[in-house]
Amino acid sequence: MSSSKCSVQAADKRKILVTCALPYANGSIHLGHLLEHIQADIWVRFQRMRGHETYFVCADDAHGTPIMLKAQELGVSPEEMIAEVREEHMRDFADFHISFDNYHSTHSDENKAFAEEIYNRLHAKGHIKTRTISQLYDPEKGMFLPDRFVKGTCPKCKSEDQNGDSCDNCGETYSPTQVLNPRSVVSGATPVLRDSEHYFFDLPAFGDMLQEWTRSGALQDEMANKLAEWFESGLQQWDISRDAPYFGFEIPNAPGKFFYVWLDAPIGYMGSFKNFCDRSGIDFDSFWRLDSEAELYHFIGKDIIYFHSLFWPAMLDGAGYRKPTSVYAHGFVTVNGAKMSKSKGTFIKGRTYLEHLNPEYLRYYYAAKLTSRIDDLDLNLEDFAQRVNSDLVGKVVNIASRCASFITKRFDGMLSSHVDNQALADEVMGAGDKIAAYYEAREFSRAMREIMALADKVNEYIAIKEPWQLVKDESKQQEVHDICSLGINMFRTLMIYLKPVLPVLADSTAAFLNDELVWQGHNTLLSNHKINKFKAMLQRVDMDKVNTMTEASKESMAPVAKATPVSGPLMDDPIAPEIQFDDFAKIDLRIAKIVNAEHVEKADKLLRLTLSLDEQAGGETRQVFAGIKSAYQPEDLIGKLTVMVANLAPRKMRFGLSEGMVLAAGPGGKDLWILNPDDGAQPGMRVK
Ligand code: MSP
Ligand code: ZN
Repeated sequence: MSSSKCSVQAADKRKILVTCALPYANGSIHLGHLLEHIQADIWVRFQRMRGHETYFVCADDAHGTPIMLKAQELGVSPEEMIAEVREEHMRDFADFHISFDNYHSTHSDENKAFAEEIYNRLHAKGHIKTRTISQLYDPEKGMFLPDRFVKGTCPKCKSEDQNGDSCDNCGETYSPTQVLNPRSVVSGATPVLRDSEHYFFDLPAFGDMLQEWTRSGALQDEMANKLAEWFESGLQQWDISRDAPYFGFEIPNAPGKFFYVWLDAPIGYMGSFKNFCDRSGIDFDSFWRLDSEAELYHFIGKDIIYFHSLFWPAMLDGAGYRKPTSVYAHGFVTVNGAKMSKSKGTFIKGRTYLEHLNPEYLRYYYAAKLTSRIDDLDLNLEDFAQRVNSDLVGKVVNIASRCASFITKRFDGMLSSHVDNQALADEVMGAGDKIAAYYEAREFSRAMREIMALADKVNEYIAIKEPWQLVKDESKQQEVHDICSLGINMFRTLMIYLKPVLPVLADSTAAFLNDELVWQGHNTLLSNHKINKFKAMLQRVDMDKVNTMTEASKESMAPVAKATPVSGPLMDDPIAPEIQFDDFAKIDLRIAKIVNAEHVEKADKLLRLTLSLDEQAGGETRQVFAGIKSAYQPEDLIGKLTVMVANLAPRKMRFGLSEGMVLAAGPGGKDLWILNPDDGAQPGMRVK
């Protein structure tokens, strides 16, 4: 970067390293992840624009039981699976313009070296303890079971099929050993208790250091409060080992024991940065050594604060490394006011979004709603379309499209050298410091509001001056030139302010204006400057496309939720809310005869059923895709009766239209029950 482009003097130049939480390598990137990556990317692009030496790294979080089991399920090695998922994640992030300097993997040589080094240092200082614990073990699969791989009956309310650590019905939390009739989710076997020696990190030894770090003022208030609560309830030793079989790094001098995934995951920040430094000649130590003056920030979601604000700084401290300058937590994305749901089509993958919409719409919408706090952020899709259209198309780009053609047609593309309204120019150019302060403080919504208020003023100015009227009067040509030139200049300044959020729109603006849009350019005006012909820069958001996107998000789901093949353990199954009798009465349940059943190519769990709702052959039939392949051969189903939801809106799936849903009862797997024809039931009969 040439010195003329830097907005900071050498002495003010900061060294900054930014990370995002490492996405798990067994699921796709969705709009929830993207909130974090867009937030961090905007901040990073802003810092870079201001001339600070800023690096931005991430990686896939590749270890742990769910990843090991998912690979087994897919019949591939974990190494193969994580390599493929990493490629997918990198493409997704690149297409949302997330400007990582490096995207690595926790399953890497660098990470192994750091994990071992940090562990060895902690061990040498006496911060690693061992003790034998008793845990549920799957005798069929030959492995210890993490809590969420145990299911059973809630010890409190006796509700069946509850998770190993908490009950969805009564909210009770418990240990998996308290669950009644426990079974392994992996094999279905009844788990047994088995002893094993575990390794613990002595977190309580770091209590004083952590309290001091918390009070240093670097953390968000809400986070500091959360930490204070945790200190009050007492810090516990942290179990950092898992027994083989486990996909991860073996613990030094502890055969058959592996680092728990969360031990080496944050170390992955160092691993990724080291990998980058080794390739680009940057001094890794100057960022991580104890007395480093570089700044280190982790952007994370609110669900992983404990790991980043307690374990991670303690590990770094114990191993002689610097601690994070700050940890910035954000809230969760909800869509249309509710938790993202696969059945509503609001569990939207990044890739599905990209197939229908411009990534900069989402970048802007998130920016327009992001604050420095940990509140959840609602992506209301109507509001999203309306906001982007009104702000970006209607306010910002509108300025250029109103002014550009006059400059091109009448003045040979040259901007005038006279400023028509200095007060307006000063106001727009003078807002730079305020906007910069908002960006710095991650108050992006305030920055966007400020920028849009300025855009309103510029539009108002143009509307009052009406250059399209003046142009008809030959004596007013100079005025038209000055007004439109100021309009274009104001557009340029606003686009400089928006560049961290909208890098692609900024690039087209740069090409249009023959100008680089560097940050300090906000304080200058282009005069006697040649610009290019204006081309449409941004389409309006088309609500039809938004709707197609949510429809397409429903596609990846099979009608029987339990059989959904695409869901990894990370994706949340929608939990149906309680409904009133009226809601239930709306469901048209009918006996249907299965007149045909066949395999669906490329679908692991689906069968295509043709159902007849008529007693007579040749009457109304429906095509339904049902996730019951694991339980039935198609030929065994033909001629049987089932109960179907007859008034479910048809849904387009990857394989065709599904026009209803069949109800099958039973625990799943091989035991799913469908009715045998008997004299009592007739196709078409209502069930209620
Ligand atoms: N692998 C761990 C992080 C290890 S960091 C050393 C993990 N992975 S994750 O894929 O589940 O989540 C990655 C990040 O995405 C987390 O910061 C998480 O909070 C964030 N989000 C996941 N779902 C989200 C929303 N619905 N909304 C906003 N952020 C969300 O946790
Ligand atoms: Zn319960």
